[in-house]
Amino acid sequence: MFKEFKINIVLIGFMGSGKTSIAQSLSKLLNRSWIEMDDLVYQKTNTRNMHEVFKKGGELLLRETEIEISKEYAVKNDLIISTGGGVVLNKIVLDYFKQKGGRIIFLQAQFTTIVKRLKGDESRPLFTSLKDFKKLYSFRLPLYVNYADEIINVDFKSVDEIALGVVGQVQNF
Ligand code: S3P
Repeated sequence: MFKEFKINIVLIGFMGSGKTSIAQSLSKLLNRSWIEMDDLVYQKTNTRNMHEVFKKGGELLLRETEIEISKEYAVKNDLIISTGGGVVLNKIVLDYFKQKGGRIIFLQAQFTTIVKRLKGDESRPLFTSLKDFKKLYSFRLPLYVNYADEIINVDFKSVDEIALGVVGQVQNF
């Protein structure tokens, strides 16, 4: 049904933009495996969640492990990769994926959408005060735009609709 393409599809975007759900949907649509970078971070650091990662080695441990993972997984060419929202902080992470032909898709959500989705969520150490969160969002927005090969707006759309949009963009490339 879909044209064959041998590249990694790398989803980037702020926390709560839907990277995980869309990666799962893409994985079903394209019959490909997907990976969740945060889960690989837990495996590699011998932790169970992000709070434990931060407790063990601070944000630095997370960022260093993300670099390690991207280097390892960029060489594969048939994965859907759901990144952590902060991968844009280290240029090398997305450079590794790009160098090997990975297509970087930015799932862009409005700040209000993100806050609505993350309301009551306590799993993310960087989701603290709304003011700081907004600052982080504004700081990162141009980074996502800059690294993206494609930008998909995700506000008011269903997961499957977005996944189909991603496939369309990747196939038309
Ligand atoms: C982070 C995003 C999280 C996770 C960690 C830090 C960030 O992943 O990697 O809490 O810096 O934006 P999600 O984007 O999947 O929530």
